[in-house]
Amino acid sequence: MHLTRLALTDFRSYGELSIDLAPGVTTFSGPNGEGKTNLVEAVGYLATLGSHRVATDAPLVRRGAVRAVLRAAVTGAQGRSLVEVEVNPGRANRVRLNRSPLARPRDILGALRTVLFAPEDLALVKGDPGERRRFLDDLLVATAPRYAGVRADYERVLRQRTALLKSAGARGHLRGSARESVTTTLDAWDAQLARAGAPLLNGRIRLVAALRPHVSAAYEAVSRGAASRDVGDEGEIAMAYRCSVSDSAGAADPGAEAPGGPGGTGHAEGAGIAGRADEVAGLETAMLKALAAVRASELDRGVCLVGPHRDELELSVGGLPARGYASHGESWSLALALRLASFALLREGREDPVLILDDVFAELDVGRRDRLAALVSGGEQVLITAAVPADIPDVLAGARFTVRAGTVHGAD
Ligand SMILES: Nc1ncnc2c1ncn2[C@@H]1O[C@H](COP(=O)(O)OP(=O)(O)OP(=O)(O)O)[C@@H](O)[C@H]1O
Ligand SMILES: [Mg+2]
Repeated sequence: MHLTRLALTDFRSYGELSIDLAPGVTTFSGPNGEGKTNLVEAVGYLATLGSHRVATDAPLVRRGAVRAVLRAAVTGAQGRSLVEVEVNPGRANRVRLNRSPLARPRDILGALRTVLFAPEDLALVKGDPGERRRFLDDLLVATAPRYAGVRADYERVLRQRTALLKSAGARGHLRGSARESVTTTLDAWDAQLARAGAPLLNGRIRLVAALRPHVSAAYEAVSRGAASRDVGDEGEIAMAYRCSVSDSAGAADPGAEAPGGPGGTGHAEGAGIAGRADEVAGLETAMLKALAAVRASELDRGVCLVGPHRDELELSVGGLPARGYASHGESWSLALALRLASFALLREGREDPVLILDDVFAELDVGRRDRLAALVSGGEQVLITAAVPADIPDVLAGARFTVRAGTVHGAD
């Protein structure tokens, strides 16, 4: 799919902007701080209802304005569509598809699909486990929008169960009927948490298996033939899903493999990420068992110790955990490989998502630049930002825009 138009009102540094876009490569260049990333952030927001830079919506609205409006005309296999999002910080967004309001904002997901790589993605490798869980969940939603509901349900149940654990813990050692009532209530919440968590867990496990060969291939493709600038850069990449449920329940880890182990099992190809009922039921049982096993410590600590929110996507380079060991260049290549792998997975048997590369070329040596360019040049639509246009390899010549102080001009 591709965008044919992007229009913004009071988004970030833009008062009013409308640009026409075409399939193929489009580059946005201009000095630092002029609004290049703001543009591609808007495209990402239209696709995911979230920013890759900030967790809340307030910074997205132009200073002094009360709301931002983002619009994209999208052409894809399903024909043309108009996606519109009104960002109202602190309140629900309003979303329209082809001018019809949608009851729930998340119903817009899937109308525009993007994969965005940006400098912030270094946190995928170097940051907390939460960054990698978010990466998996965002990608799950991109592969199958119904996971937005699965994820929201789980987060809601988790919040409520955690609140209950906290209040029960705060009341100390309950006795008699008070204790019984907490136990009964917790049993009910365990069931709900397992019911909501199992499909999310199943989706993530299948996703990791489907993604694994793409990550290895992308890492290899970007770093292959690298000069000795990054020592050890040729190290093998491994990715494993560490599951708190199977750890606590003592069951066999359903999806993980030892770092540095063999490649993917291949049991979950792109189209098969949509979970299987028997696997989900098995995970629900395992989660209930794991919850029972940690009940006492959960009450002591007032936190929910088992579930997808405690899991980790372990990444390693050359047998060592990437977080804490990988060099800057290795971390950058691995983060890039995760996004390129996402792109490869999302386009498997379906139309291409829009690929967005924010400021990526400046960080890469010439060999990596050229290999990355060759990898992405065939994408249906690729949006690229760069402060220095000369950093972008010639094979990515396409439409060019210059960005200056909140205005965007065609450069050719
Ligand atoms: N809510 C907002 N209201 C007004 N201006 C904003 C808002 N949010 C960000 N800006 C401005 O937008 C500019 C940043 O734009 P952006 O991040 O797109 O720059 P860039 O062109 O990508 O720069 P670089 O090359 O450094 O990455 C900053 O000057 C910032 O002050
Ligand atoms: Mg930028």
